[in-house]
Amino acid sequence: MDVQLLLQILILALWHCRSSAGHSIGDFYCLADDTNPYVHFATKTGYNVGNGNISPKAIVPEGCEAIQVWHLIRHGTRYPGDNDILAFQLILPRLQRHIVNASESGQGELCKEDVSYLKDWSLGGLNTSYDDILAPQGEIELYELSSRFKAALPSLLDKPFSNDTFKFRHTDKQRTYASARAYARGLFGGAGDTIYMPPPIVPIDPLLQFYKICNKYTLEVEDNPEAIIEATMFQEGPKMTAVVDEVSRRIGINVAFGEVEVMYDACRYYKAWDPPTQSAWCAVFTPENLMIMEYWHDLQYYYEDGYGHTINYQSACPPLQDLIQHFRYVVEGGSGPSGIFYFSHSGALLKVMARLGFFEDSEPLTHSNINPDRLWRTSYHGTFATNIAFVLSDCGPEKGWWVSAMVSETLEQLPGCPSKDGCSWEDFLLFYGQYEQCDFDAICENDREPTLKTGENGEWSSSSETQKLVELWRDFRSFAAKIF
Ligand SMILES: *[C@@H]1O[C@H](CO)[C@@H](O)[C@H](O)[C@H]1NC(C)=O
Repeated sequence: MDVQLLLQILILALWHCRSSAGHSIGDFYCLADDTNPYVHFATKTGYNVGNGNISPKAIVPEGCEAIQVWHLIRHGTRYPGDNDILAFQLILPRLQRHIVNASESGQGELCKEDVSYLKDWSLGGLNTSYDDILAPQGEIELYELSSRFKAALPSLLDKPFSNDTFKFRHTDKQRTYASARAYARGLFGGAGDTIYMPPPIVPIDPLLQFYKICNKYTLEVEDNPEAIIEATMFQEGPKMTAVVDEVSRRIGINVAFGEVEVMYDACRYYKAWDPPTQSAWCAVFTPENLMIMEYWHDLQYYYEDGYGHTINYQSACPPLQDLIQHFRYVVEGGSGPSGIFYFSHSGALLKVMARLGFFEDSEPLTHSNINPDRLWRTSYHGTFATNIAFVLSDCGPEKGWWVSAMVSETLEQLPGCPSKDGCSWEDFLLFYGQYEQCDFDAICENDREPTLKTGENGEWSSSSETQKLVELWRDFRSFAAKIF
């Protein structure tokens, strides 16, 4: 066989692999041809990606009646913060021009269709007034979430609103308030817009934003760059360098990590805002590149919220205490509300999940070893609108009370319970009862020097946010110097 023929067969085989597997290797990747594109974007993944679908049979055991649901929910899909929007405005239109020009002069390796995605892309009116607000898709997520809960638990949730029956609580942020309203519309229709919700606790809700008033957490994790050293090492390591090189090669212009980060954000945000449509900026990445970006974020959240540091989850006792106290009141003969609905942020959800023992890997996540089967995977348990639901059911005088737990509508094994179906109240207390005692100030060493700083506009801010802004501008300046 001659070499020419062999080569042709090889190329044909590669093309075949590519169309049958959906994903391809290296240079051949074309998003437009991918019927099943990679959409696992860490904490900027839409709720539609891989959430379960609550079923009444699963959450309430046979012969039992649901009495109370305690539901902690991250706000839905939002817009980026104003700094990230600024980065979009400053960087993306210029990159777009350069990529299209490069492609037209025969540089880069993007397929024609992907170049036209990028050519057709526009900011679409996005400006800094969208700063962190809930996106329309976020409203849909919350509305549909509560609609499904209502259908699954009609005896509990299909009734008119009253102050005694339903408790809503959100933080002092538009995105959690708008999420609470959308959730209320799913339960009460148009009345959801006017039902009573208590005003948020300002500036920090100690139940929903406990991690912002935990001295030890702020000092040891939030404001300590060493705390996420594994993520930093991964960012500076060979795998990430290879992503930056490959993206540069694919688009035909040399970019730095900062621009890759902005393109990644554009890829995942536009996907979350409009799930059925291909997100143009995803075309600059291969699925393998996206898995590297995803792991880098998982590392960050593992060390900022998860099992990476004990204070992360030790600080999360206030929500567990609240849960146990609500259930105990009912179990001991009180008549509590049917639904308790809390709207918070990823910083709370992920820490509570770690406190509960969910998604714990036997080996810690590190920069040197990507475990593709890891349990700590924020694209699954840290999406927009990710949520933890506990249901307390009455199983009659013989069987007693039953507790079951779901994460984003899928039954989740509580480590202290025999199966995914949950636990008797007594078994639940054996394992989790300890968190009813929550000496928060002792855990957080809140008698040490104060940690909260006041930002320019009187908002609470942490120095890590400032750090991020500084880095963004440094990246932008070096990028501007290079291409203008
Ligand atoms: C609920 O409580 C608030 C505040 O106490 C009150 O203003 C409102 O009228 C109550 N709503 C209903 C339906 O009872």
